[in-house]
Amino acid sequence: MERIHGKQTFQLDAADLERLLINYDEMLIDIGTGDGRFVREMAQERKTRLAIGIDACRENLREGSRRAPANAIFLIARAEQLPHELYGLATHLTINFPWGSLLWGLLDGNTALLQSLAAIARPGARLEVRLNPSALAVAGRALDEGAILVRRNLRDAGFAIEPPVELKTHALRACPTTWARKLAFGREPRALLLAGTRMAAAADGMLARGAAVPSAAGIQHQ
Ligand SMILES: C[S@@+](CC[C@H](N)C(=O)[O-])C[C@H]1O[C@@H](n2cnc3c(N)ncnc32)[C@H](O)[C@@H]1O
Repeated sequence: MERIHGKQTFQLDAADLERLLINYDEMLIDIGTGDGRFVREMAQERKTRLAIGIDACRENLREGSRRAPANAIFLIARAEQLPHELYGLATHLTINFPWGSLLWGLLDGNTALLQSLAAIARPGARLEVRLNPSALAVAGRALDEGAILVRRNLRDAGFAIEPPVELKTHALRACPTTWARKLAFGREPRALLLAGTRMAAAADGMLARGAAVPSAAGIQHQ
């Protein structure tokens, strides 16, 4: 795995990770972490949590990784090819305001992406995906429509996803990511949260065979 800290990058192998993990009882992995603000906040909130931020763009990670607390690390990787050293380790998985190939993959059901997400999540791991209307609009989808697609694809990948929850100004202000702040103070302060859990492997096959897809009609408000 390629780890970044400021201007420096170095390899982190499975043994390094194992040594690091001894100190922690939780592992949060934030995919498409951007400037890593969320990861730094999550690490500061709980010292027994190891928070890992992953992004495909190393420039995005440079400055934020330099300011990381001891229990936060940053990795350069594409979400479609997450390092196998992370398989089965995440207790919490977040994707905040995805765009680009990350968003397209969630919408289109990109197999490499969905398998990668399922692979790093421990059974019972909590997953949270936050979607914003402007990114969905660029992808040619309305927010509610996009949420239905993402929910279905995550479900097929082995995540039990609850009905979407609408996030308005207050909830966006309370969410410690740079994009949540931009949205909170922008023209359309609205997003949808899809949350759920990684099911045990035995349940995956059943879901892949396709129970009825729930509609987004039951959006809850926050
Ligand atoms: C809109 S930014 C959101 C950043 C951060 N999560 C936030 O809430 O402020 C989306 C991020 O996803 C990253 N991204 C897009 N496609 C990706 C992929 N396939 N794998 C990893 N990161 C990706 C981009 O580099 C960008 O940093």
